Amino acid sequence: KKSVRDVDVAGKKVFVRVDFNVPLENGAITDDTRIRETLPTIKYLIEKGAKVILASHLGRPKGEVVEELRLTPAVARLSELLGKPVAKADEVVGASVQAQVDALKDGDVLVLENVRFHPGEESNDVELAKAFASLADLFVNDAFGAAHRAHASTEGIAHHIPAVSGLLMEKELDVLGKALNNPERPFTAIVGGSKVKDKIDVINKMIEIADNIIIGGGLSYTFFKAEGHEIGLSLCDNSKLDLVLEFKEKAKKLGKTFLLPVDIVVSEDFKSAVNMDIVGIDGIPANKEGVDIGPKTREIYAEVIKNSKLVVWNGPMGVFEVDDFSNGTRAVAQACADTAAYTVIGGGDSAAAAEKFHLADKMNHISTGGGASLEFMEGKQLPGVVALNDK
Ligand code: 3PG
Repeated sequence: KKSVRDVDVAGKKVFVRVDFNVPLENGAITDDTRIRETLPTIKYLIEKGAKVILASHLGRPKGEVVEELRLTPAVARLSELLGKPVAKADEVVGASVQAQVDALKDGDVLVLENVRFHPGEESNDVELAKAFASLADLFVNDAFGAAHRAHASTEGIAHHIPAVSGLLMEKELDVLGKALNNPERPFTAIVGGSKVKDKIDVINKMIEIADNIIIGGGLSYTFFKAEGHEIGLSLCDNSKLDLVLEFKEKAKKLGKTFLLPVDIVVSEDFKSAVNMDIVGIDGIPANKEGVDIGPKTREIYAEVIKNSKLVVWNGPMGVFEVDDFSNGTRAVAQACADTAAYTVIGGGDSAAAAEKFHLADKMNHISTGGGASLEFMEGKQLPGVVALNDK
């Protein structure tokens, strides 16, 4: 794909889609990674003398104005990070926005209001896409995190003006693409998380392309149940019992190492430790549920991670938000931090876990995409990428 470096931007009005969908608590940003990661593109455009128009969604306001979801905190943070004033529009499109765009000088930055306040954003309305396009000479998509959405500001706009990738988008596609298309081996994929249904396609794909597949988190218990173990109150998707057995069969046929936990941490409550215990997979009591991988499993997984050349990790090993149940996820994060392998963290919860354990800077690449990196790992085409101009 063509990148922002391949085109002339000096003096041009550039519409940049970013993913400023950052976590907020009482109006304050709790993790500004996504904003910081877009700085290279924004600074590049400022230095080249472009007029920069930024657009992002925040949360899921469903086409209505939701006061708490205005982009005001993100704009303030961006201004701090850039060390210069950043203008903000209070609307998504319209006469007032046009006036603010007309007032931009070379190197100025304007942020539009949360694009999901407009009902046309998620429906990929062609009129809204045209209205976005009419504001600018060039579209730069730097929102890898939203690239799996075919919305007016991620996909529609690209049909009306020249469309190129931003530097973050380029980096994400480059790193994830290289890792999956031409992996260094042994390649270990770690798939965790709570629900089987969210990870079906990624497990399937990883069985095909990785050498070792490590399974953890709530989705493990569907495997245990399918194999005839008693799982007590653990999470289970009864509609996927046959499917998970097929996964194991397929891995075996392809000669892949497919690892499930050998011991687990159980508790009577998943929100806090109540009669917590460590048991083998045949020892889950009827009144308890699995909340983390056990110490033996942690050791086995760490050893596999240590002996890999590439590790791709998506999804926690247990309820890591609760400290008592975070040791398995912490051990996997620590093993990823310690290994000489190239480590790719597939965004979302695993990125949050690496951050929580202060190990984020020890990873080679942490994707800014949650759903987007998952779909990329599943081998799916991302509409926000497909719509960009080819070189
Ligand atoms: C994300 O946080 O994964 C992206 O910003 C996309 O958000 P969405 O799931 O609300 O489309």
